[in-house]
Amino acid sequence: MTSVLSHPNTITERTAGRRHYVMCRPEQFAVTYAINPWMDPAVPVDRDLAIRQWEALRAVYLRLGHRVDLLDPVPGLPDMVYTANGATVVGGVVLGARFRHAERAAEAAAHLAWFRVNGFAHVVEPEFVNEGEGDLLAVGELVLAGTGFRTEPRAHAEAGRVLGREIVPLELVDPRYYHLDTAVAVLDATTIAWLPEAFSAASQAVLRERFPDAVTASPQDAAFLGLNAVSDGRHVVLPAAARDLAAAVAERGFTPVPVEVSELLKGGGGPKCCTLEVRA
Ligand code: ARG
Repeated sequence: MTSVLSHPNTITERTAGRRHYVMCRPEQFAVTYAINPWMDPAVPVDRDLAIRQWEALRAVYLRLGHRVDLLDPVPGLPDMVYTANGATVVGGVVLGARFRHAERAAEAAAHLAWFRVNGFAHVVEPEFVNEGEGDLLAVGELVLAGTGFRTEPRAHAEAGRVLGREIVPLELVDPRYYHLDTAVAVLDATTIAWLPEAFSAASQAVLRERFPDAVTASPQDAAFLGLNAVSDGRHVVLPAAARDLAAAVAERGFTPVPVEVSELLKGGGGPKCCTLEVRA
């Protein structure tokens, strides 16, 4: 006689889907300006270590059976490793990005060109500021849309029109969690993990209503951008320092896959920032 209730992991069998990602090797990675509170140009960056951490992340995706395409790094664009900010791709439609800061502006064209060259027929250059999957996160049929620091509210309506999806606008209030993908991790089509304090009271209420079973990140997870995670529906690739979150997702039947991203955190990013998902 076994009690399923005492073994929550056996209740839910999680299934992994094969994913398609775009990444950019951090050959140009550096912290030469500060556009978020994690960046400090006075702190030395070990680019070789960043490259090794990034290679290990890519190797994890390949081992899990995912496809990883590469975008060429461009000299003078040290944040280009964070490909998640360069576009949002849903149902084969590519909504390009428009960056808030001049330092990153030129990344947008590199992404648009990549998608055009790689045969995507529906590529849209946006009118308003949106930082790609940094702030636009597809969850099932919805797109959660962050604002407050980077993406403009007007861009939410634009994203809804272009991508043909219902948008759930959310307001970020803590500059440490300046992109939505630092405050929400999408675990599968109906499950998220989140950091409630990163949102306005009204947005907290929206998320509680839409996702009553959401996993809540701890202060320890938050201190290392633990929510900047990538899930294939079963495996959750997350910063190794986010130990509470790893335990919490494991309790829900997911398989945590910790990766060391300490050097990439110096730019204010983690695994998700380095991973743009292409949804056919
Ligand atoms: N230094 C980059 C910036 O501030 C980090 C971007 C992180 N990317 C992300 N998807 N949150 O824009």
